[in-house]
Amino acid sequence: MRFLKLLAVLVAMGLIFAVGTMCSDQEEAKTEKIKAPEKVFSYVGYKKCKPCHLGSKIGAQSKVWESGPHAKAFAELASEQSLELAKKLELKTEPQKAAECLPCHVTAYGVPDSLKSERLTYEEGVSCEACHGPGSDYWSNKVMKALRAGTQDRKEVGLWDQTEELCVTCHNKNSPTYKPFKFKEAVQAIAHPYPPEETEKKE
Ligand code: HEC
Ligand code: HEC
Ligand code: HEC
Ligand code: HEC
Repeated sequence: MRFLKLLAVLVAMGLIFAVGTMCSDQEEAKTEKIKAPEKVFSYVGYKKCKPCHLGSKIGAQSKVWESGPHAKAFAELASEQSLELAKKLELKTEPQKAAECLPCHVTAYGVPDSLKSERLTYEEGVSCEACHGPGSDYWSNKVMKALRAGTQDRKEVGLWDQTEELCVTCHNKNSPTYKPFKFKEAVQAIAHPYPPEETEKKE
């Protein structure tokens, strides 16, 4: 018994030493990397985007999205069709609470709460940030204007590209109602561009 206790103490001391060295290594790594820190972006929720993207001068993206399919993605999970699917698939909870449904019907499912504002709710369904990326570092007017002027790198502030790969993270055969996904047509169906004269100014 005594021997075991001694062994335990020695092991513990060894661990403390090892952790200590690891920490100081990390400290060094930190100072080395200080020039290019890894940025972590967080989700701010649709309410932040809505007012600035509402007017027709900018292209009324908010209105287009609100009347499109993605805004009702969460509400859809309470539809007759969803309840029938839930029965068929023998879900243990209602679809609006089911891990079998939520990942594709809300924004940022599975992202830790610490990286989501309380303003971001399931109710907003598949909202702006599901396709454009978490908005913490790009939603301000200053950054938005700089983006348009071409003086701000898009990736640096967390903006994503809207590629086919992005869409098929949800538009795939894991969807119980899967319909073949045609990228170009689908993009057209949800299009919310700047108005033509604004686009001309941009070029
Ligand atoms: C303070 C007002 C404001 C807010 C808030 C805002 N935007 Fe913008 N956004 C703009 C303006 C202004 C532009 C540039 C268009 C222009 O200059 O006419 C823009 C441009 C964009 C662009 C195009 C960027 C590019 O690469 O050209 C995207 C995408 C976008 N906004 C998404 C969002 C999303 C998503 C949110 C919420 C997370 C948001 N915006 C919040 C004002 C805003
Ligand atoms: C389902 C995905 C999706 C959602 C949700 C979405 N967008 Fe987009 N957005 C796109 C795609 C695709 C484009 C076109 C990108 C391109 O041309 O490369 C785009 C383009 C834009 C542009 C640039 C328009 C231009 O002419 O350059 C703005 C601004 C924008 N979105 C704002 C928003 C705002 C604000 C919301 C929320 C109200 C939103 N988007 C929601 C996919 C989405
Ligand atoms: C986070 C998941 C998610 C992403 C990412 C996503 N979608 Fe969707 N999309 C959905 C859901 C869910 C619906 C069904 C909403 C409903 O009917 O209630 C839908 C519906 C649609 C529809 C309506 C027609 C149909 O197939 O039922 C179009 C068009 C569409 N999406 C285009 C796109 C495009 C283009 C992209 C990529 C730029 C994209 N989506 C990215 C989840 C997503
Ligand atoms: C892999 C992503 C994904 C998962 C998981 C998912 N969905 Fe969907 N759902 C979609 C997409 C994308 C659409 C729109 C296009 C389609 O039906 O393929 C959609 C559309 C729907 C529709 C509308 C269908 C129509 O014909 O208009 C209902 C209802 C629905 N989903 C219910 C559910 C339920 C209930 C669950 C959980 C059991 C679920 N979904 C899980 C991605 C998903």
